[in-house]
Amino acid sequence: MGIEKLTDKEEKQEKIVTMFDDIASTYDLANRVLSFGIDIQWRKKGCDKAFEILDKKELTQVTDVATGTGDLLIYWKEQAKKNGVKIDKYVGIDPSVGMLDVARKKVDFAEFIEGKAQKLPIEDESTDVISISYGIRNVVDRVEALQEFNRALKPHGIVIILEFTKQDRRGVVNKIVDFGMKKVLPRVGGLISKNYEAYKYLPDSIEEFLTTEMLAKELEEAGFEMKYIKSFSMGISTLLVAQKI
Ligand SMILES: C[S@@+](CC[C@H](N)C(=O)[O-])C[C@H]1O[C@@H](n2cnc3c(N)ncnc32)[C@H](O)[C@@H]1O
Repeated sequence: MGIEKLTDKEEKQEKIVTMFDDIASTYDLANRVLSFGIDIQWRKKGCDKAFEILDKKELTQVTDVATGTGDLLIYWKEQAKKNGVKIDKYVGIDPSVGMLDVARKKVDFAEFIEGKAQKLPIEDESTDVISISYGIRNVVDRVEALQEFNRALKPHGIVIILEFTKQDRRGVVNKIVDFGMKKVLPRVGGLISKNYEAYKYLPDSIEEFLTTEMLAKELEEAGFEMKYIKSFSMGISTLLVAQKI
C-alpha cells in the first residue's frame, strides 16, 4: 500500500486551501479594510437580484459555496427579511477548516459543512439558490463545479457569482485601479494578515482568471441561462446571476 500521489491540479487546490487556513483569523478585517466596506453593497445587490429573479416568497435552502467565514450568509438573511422572503435553511460549504471555524463562531443560524465546490455534499435538486462570492476563482476544477451547481439546484434554481473577473485595464483611471490592486493591496493585506503571499495571490489569480464574458459562457455550457450581469466600482467586482434551465 503506497501513499497516493496528488495530481498537479489537486496539489494546486490543496495549496490554495492551506493559504486560506493561514489567513482565516484576519480575513474579515482585511476584507473590510481593502474594500472600504463597499463589498457589503456588492453582496446585498447579489442577494436582491436573486430574490427578484426567483420571484418566490418561500425557499427551502440557500447554499453558499466557498463560504469562507460565512459573510454572505449574513446578507442572505438580512436581504431575505427586507424582501419578505422566508428561507428554511442556510448552508455554508468550504474546504478550509480554518475559515469554517471562524464562520461557525460568527454565524449561528447556518449549517456549515466541509466540502469542495466540485463535489458538493448536498443532494440532487435540493437547493433553491447557490451563491459563491470571490470563491470560483479559487476552484481549480471550475467546469466540474459549475456542473455540480446545476446538479444540486432545484429546477429553475439560481446561481449567483460575485467575482473579480479579468479586465482589460487601459486608460488612466484603469491604470490607477491596476496599481492599487497589484501594488497597494498585497502590502496592506500582507500587513493585516502577516501573509504577503496570500494577498499577492489575489491580483495574480485575477490576472489568470476568466473575463466576465468567458465565465458567462461557461455557465451557459453548464446548463444555465444568464439573467443578469453587472460590474461594480470600475469593474473591480462583477455580479453574474444565472438560472438553471
Ligand atoms: C476569497 S475567499 C471567499 C470567502 C467568502 N465567500 C467571502 O465572500 O468572503 C475564497 C474561499 O474559497 C474557498 N475555496 C478554495 N477552493 C475551494 C473549492 N475548491 N471549493 C470551494 N471553496 C473553495 C477557500 O477556502 C476560501 O474560503
